[in-house]
Amino acid sequence: MIKLVRGFKDILPADTALWQHVEALARELLEDFGFYELRIPLLEQTELFSRSIGAGTDIVEKEMYTFTDRGGASLTLRPEATASVVRAYVQHRLYAKDPVWKLYTIGPMFRRERPQKGRYRQFYQINAEVFGVDDPRTDAELILLLMRFMGRLELPDITLQINSLGCPECRPRFKNALESFLTSHSGQLCSDCLRRQDQNPLRLFDCKVPSCKETMQDAPSVLDHLCETCRAHFGSVKESLEGFQVPYQINHGLVRGLDYYTRTTFEVLAESLGAQDAVAGGGRYDGLVKALGGPEQPGVGFAIGLDRLIELLAGRAQVFEKRPHVFIAAIGKRAQSVGFQWLQDLRLQRVRAEIDFENRSLKSQMRRADKLEASYVLIVGDRELDDGIAVLRNMTTKEQEKVPLENIISFVVNRIDTTAVGSR
Ligand code: HAM
Repeated sequence: MIKLVRGFKDILPADTALWQHVEALARELLEDFGFYELRIPLLEQTELFSRSIGAGTDIVEKEMYTFTDRGGASLTLRPEATASVVRAYVQHRLYAKDPVWKLYTIGPMFRRERPQKGRYRQFYQINAEVFGVDDPRTDAELILLLMRFMGRLELPDITLQINSLGCPECRPRFKNALESFLTSHSGQLCSDCLRRQDQNPLRLFDCKVPSCKETMQDAPSVLDHLCETCRAHFGSVKESLEGFQVPYQINHGLVRGLDYYTRTTFEVLAESLGAQDAVAGGGRYDGLVKALGGPEQPGVGFAIGLDRLIELLAGRAQVFEKRPHVFIAAIGKRAQSVGFQWLQDLRLQRVRAEIDFENRSLKSQMRRADKLEASYVLIVGDRELDDGIAVLRNMTTKEQEKVPLENIISFVVNRIDTTAVGSR
């Protein structure tokens, strides 16, 4: 048997209804907030990611699925969506029509990380990006949107953490302070951190090695090094969140694993997920559009990790399953042909209807209706046809009623609208 590639997974029919529900809710909310969908390819030129995410990050150094295609180009399966969304904004000159764009995209991302609970090599994200606005209220509004989404899903025990990483003006000051701290603590750092210490010291906040984690707890705080403008920007984000009654924690070590961030960064954590507890993350990236060849336009966005979100909703999958409204139990050749027509008529009315083509006994057809958990069974045989009726059985109450054949479709539709479980 040929099996799945390690770190990849199938999403089986028992779970897809929940995935669809979550994605539909996200689309609804994002569109209510003025976002448009953008569809981007899974494959991009490798340079797009090394230039945006940063050459010294775990993603670019160790985790990308990169290959040389037959024409000799270096291509990479996208490890995230922001870089591609920015590329599209720049390449199609979307900014020329209006610099302000709110774009979302939903789909799979690929990172060759060590597989574990909540960490896959193909995982799914709902990604939202806003271009052309540097007002801190946009950052707050995006966080509010994210928390509303979590709220609509009634997720328990989630925490919002925020931070500010400053701008090209104040970041160097912080980097200097961090570098002298790291030099005096180099004895406690792992080899990866020692290597990155000069090139990309912020990355050391992400290291999971216990001695590095402990050391970094005493590291200087970026928040103590913000310039006046960044301090005011962060103050405004916090003020708006408070105004919306969105609780948050400040975490000065929240540097995120990608190099493009400036100013606000944030993450939503769910303790019950264990080690991989980030359900969503994002932040501002005011220099990225320019760095990728576009005009000087700011950007801010987030990505929700769908796999982890679904994990938090485990146990709710059944609620969203779409079971048949009606199972047509047709006994005999004549009834089978009438039933086949009803099947199509009911579906035209958006009734989920099923039939058994094998013309088995009533008993075995009822067993199948039970197995499918149909709300109703419409029973018809030669005798019923001669009498001009069919029998509609409510599978919950076990009540049966005779239905005249003339208006049978509208009769059944009406019964389903008033009594059946699940929406049409
Ligand atoms: P990220 O923090 O790398 O940010 O990923 C966002 C979310 O994707 C994480 O919080 C997590 O839920 C999920 N995720 C990441 N890696 C995996 C994995 N291996 N398995 C399962 N889930 C995973 C970004 O990707 C940024 N592009 C977000 C952003 C958008 N920033 C600005 N705009």
